[in-house]
Amino acid sequence: MNGEPTRPLLFTPLSLRGVTLRNRIVASPMCQYRSNDGCPNEWHLMHLGRMALGGAGIVFTEETAVEPRGRKTYDCAGIWNQQQVDGYARITDLLRSLGAVPAIQLGHCGRRAGTHGPMQGFSALTSEDAKRGQAPWAGIAPSALRAAPDMPEPIEMTLDDIATVTQAFADAAKRSDAAGFDICEVHGAHGYLIHQFLSPVTNRRTDAYGGDREGRMRFALEITEAVRRVWPDTKPLFFRLSAVDGKGGLWNEDDTVALSRELVQRGVDVIDCSSGGITGDSAMPRLEYAPGYQVPFAERIRREANTSTMAVGLLIDPNQCEAILAQGRADLIAIARELMLRGDWPVHAAKALGVNDYLDLFPADYAWRLKRREAGLSFTASY
Ligand SMILES: Cc1cc2nc3c(=O)[nH]c(=O)nc-3n(C[C@H](O)[C@H](O)[C@H](O)COP(=O)(O)O)c2cc1C
Repeated sequence: MNGEPTRPLLFTPLSLRGVTLRNRIVASPMCQYRSNDGCPNEWHLMHLGRMALGGAGIVFTEETAVEPRGRKTYDCAGIWNQQQVDGYARITDLLRSLGAVPAIQLGHCGRRAGTHGPMQGFSALTSEDAKRGQAPWAGIAPSALRAAPDMPEPIEMTLDDIATVTQAFADAAKRSDAAGFDICEVHGAHGYLIHQFLSPVTNRRTDAYGGDREGRMRFALEITEAVRRVWPDTKPLFFRLSAVDGKGGLWNEDDTVALSRELVQRGVDVIDCSSGGITGDSAMPRLEYAPGYQVPFAERIRREANTSTMAVGLLIDPNQCEAILAQGRADLIAIARELMLRGDWPVHAAKALGVNDYLDLFPADYAWRLKRREAGLSFTASY
């Protein structure tokens, strides 16, 4: 028999609201630090297009700032104007034409604003940078606590600031829809603004947006409500969270389950389970990095918040990815660095898992050529 008794779950389509994915593999958001005034360019077309060509079901843009001061660096992505919408429309067209669902991650870096890029250790911009046209700017945060000793003190947000940023998320979601994205993710992880509100390490407010867990969750939930109100009902909404703060932090897994339940009630379809970004001096341990180290978060949230989850973090082995899905520990597998190394990882994973038509993840003309090669036919005969 030449059949395929059971198609691996990793390569079984999945429908979320009105959107159907060709498989369960997701190109995870990856900041590129190559935008021009927030606009994507040829680099993004190539970087994202490569992963769509390689067979991913969903291709996420990097964290895209909802307002200019919500960028870490001058080179970060943004979606606060029409020029950026037009730039992204070109990208969503390409991703869709390659069979992938185009997805955008919306974010705001809060107190981590005004820095150099990762290869300079995210060091703060200085007056020297101002001389070459890149003046530092002040970050905003729930409380005026520096992100690092060399970073300027952020501005504590007023209630007006909170309303402005919430509206900026909603406006960015509307623009994302106009740009042709089919999935929107709110970035609530990795020590950026929303996470800064969630964690007691960074949120010392005494008003309705601080204090107990309910108060610290308010900003995340209001943003989610604002985005869901304008994001079409037919399109899925994801939320990325840090299931635990990080070494010495205070936000923990129980908090995450409580937050996830509230997010689901507000129309979030998938909880994207990452971790880290805020550290302190509590007894919270550092996570040990190993393949699938964050999967236990996706599993618990899926079970206890009764929601779909996305697992991420050192997921490289196709058999491990398939087992995570088959054991009901997560619904989607997100991959970042392995797709930098091998943009066509999904094709190789499909082959490894015994999918007969693995070449059909490629566009038809690629698949046709490669199938002829596999059949031992000359490449010249068909020119
Ligand atoms: C170059 C790079 C940029 C990243 N940028 C983002 C980002 O914009 N938003 C985000 O939520 N995570 C970002 N991440 C984290 C990844 O999405 C992913 O969660 C993490 O790398 C773990 O997955 P991996 O082991 O498959 O790389 C980035 C990771 C890398 C390597």
